[in-house]
Amino acid sequence: MVDPDTLLADALAQVDAAPDLAALEDVRIATVGRNAPLPLALRDVGTLPPEERGEAGKRLNIARQQIEARLTERQAALESSALADTLANDRIDVTLPGRAMPHGGLHVLTQTRREIEQIFLDMGYAIAEGPEVETEFNNFTALNIPDDHPAKADSDTLWVSDGVLLRTHTSPVQVRVMGAQDPPVAVICPGRVYRRDTQDATHSPIFHQVEGLVIDEGITLAHLKGTLEHVTKRLFGEDRKIRLRSGFFPFTEPSIEVDVSWGDGWMEILGAGMVDPNVLEHVGYDSTKVTGFAFGMGIERIAMLRHGIPDIRMLYDNDVRFLAQLSNS
Ligand code: PHE
Repeated sequence: MVDPDTLLADALAQVDAAPDLAALEDVRIATVGRNAPLPLALRDVGTLPPEERGEAGKRLNIARQQIEARLTERQAALESSALADTLANDRIDVTLPGRAMPHGGLHVLTQTRREIEQIFLDMGYAIAEGPEVETEFNNFTALNIPDDHPAKADSDTLWVSDGVLLRTHTSPVQVRVMGAQDPPVAVICPGRVYRRDTQDATHSPIFHQVEGLVIDEGITLAHLKGTLEHVTKRLFGEDRKIRLRSGFFPFTEPSIEVDVSWGDGWMEILGAGMVDPNVLEHVGYDSTKVTGFAFGMGIERIAMLRHGIPDIRMLYDNDVRFLAQLSNS
């Protein structure tokens, strides 16, 4: 029979030499596993002469207990050094600078709309919104736009069905506001509008407007001019001047077109006028008591002028190289 002391010494040496947990598992199988020499010897104890069995069994069992104890000890030691390794290698260096995440910003049209809105909110205006699919009545008739007006022709308007269209301006929102509320009124109506235009550097079939409306007793053209002067200065700079030219819109009388000083010349930025009494009567206002002014501007045009954008299509292409230059973030 093998000598338990030799088995023990050999097994303990193997346990102590196991470099990692996987190797220790191999050592366990090789020393106390089912087919290892020591358990085999224990199984053979019964074949020894009876007087030797007690002593041999005892020594072998002690040897096995010692090996198992050493295995447990070694396993604990290897596990804690494996944990220490993991902690050391996976340590997070909190002093490293963070990795920058790519992030978006507001589209230049949104920035421009919000700036325009803020200018009017600061003056006490409310913001009103309405549907993009409108009735012919709100978009044209209530605004004193006669049936034979060129803006109503198929070439300009996108019709949805008989009497229903995609709004060609946000003026119908003003009609809705006046229908729902008595004077005084001070609102702006920002929103998307549609015209059957062929796209080029300055035209798009879908664009955005901010229109405004003020109705009260004693409102005059001087109020309109003062308002527009204030707005243009905030949008384009204190040193800008405005110039009013006579214009024509069916819903305003007189109508004006407004230019802002631009280098040595002038640039047209909006249309405006005193609300036509017909429009006031259409919504049930007493045109002998109240007067008002209205104006409308294109957000794209203002963004293009302010940022020197040469082509309106750049605003819709969503080329991030372009957008990033005008991002607010
Ligand atoms: N509704 C006009 C347009 O879309 C703009 C405008 C509004 C002009 C109010 C005068 C007064 O072109």
